[in-house]
Amino acid sequence: MAPSLLLLLLPLLAVAGEAVRRASILPSNHAAAGGGAPPVPTPWPEQFHAVMFTNLTDSGRLQVIDLYYDWPGGRNLNLIRNQLSGDPKYDVEWTNGTSYIFDSASCRTIRFPVGILPPNWLDGAVYLGRESTDGFDCHVWTKVDFIWYYEDVVTHRPVRWNFYTGMQQHVMSFEVGGALEDSQWQAPAHCFADGVASATRADDEVNVMSSLLRFAGMPAAAAAAAVA
Ligand SMILES: *[C@@H]1O[C@H](CO)[C@@H](O)[C@H](O)[C@H]1NC(C)=O
Ligand SMILES: *[C@@H]1O[C@H](CO)[C@@H](O)[C@H](O)[C@H]1NC(C)=O
Repeated sequence: MAPSLLLLLLPLLAVAGEAVRRASILPSNHAAAGGGAPPVPTPWPEQFHAVMFTNLTDSGRLQVIDLYYDWPGGRNLNLIRNQLSGDPKYDVEWTNGTSYIFDSASCRTIRFPVGILPPNWLDGAVYLGRESTDGFDCHVWTKVDFIWYYEDVVTHRPVRWNFYTGMQQHVMSFEVGGALEDSQWQAPAHCFADGVASATRADDEVNVMSSLLRFAGMPAAAAAAAVA
């Protein structure tokens, strides 16, 4: 290999090595290995209900999260149960940019300039190869080095995703079309009382990745910078 080409490749190799280190995965093969175009992630169904076993690896805490994704309804709901806690937390995100995060006693509203993730939000993800995870043979992609996404090679269902922030989610069930009745999406009265904390994000450059990154625990400003 010509020395100048090697010099060109070195930074790329460093970046790739860093991505693999962060994700703690070692792809077993590469996109180029098969010769053809790399596999692309399956778009999300327009409506689904998934139960996610969640490991917040930074703190070691665990959560069970019901994720209701409703693209036609312009809404996304995470029902978050912390281990040994009786009071679940809701994160209801509307595509007009308003999110309500509440439990039985408190509520916060956050304004985002962008709404929920579109079904094709994984378009443009970088293919990393195949890896067995949670006992499933998966294709693995990364998107902007902030999420690593594992999809079952056979059924094309998502199996797992890991965030840069340390949150790791394992998909325990994935029910296409699993809808939640309208009343369950309604934020409670105490979200509309005087003095409820509210925040506005106004960055024009924030794109849809930011809502997912924010959900994964990345501060909004950092999420905005990451995807700008
Ligand atoms: C959570 O993740 C940490 C770090 O990878 C791991 O040591 C721990 O076993 C995981 N916990 C569970 C219950 O999977
Ligand atoms: C967005 O939609 C939700 C649900 O209908 C509503 O509560 C909220 O006020 C709306 N936000 C804006 C800025 O219109």
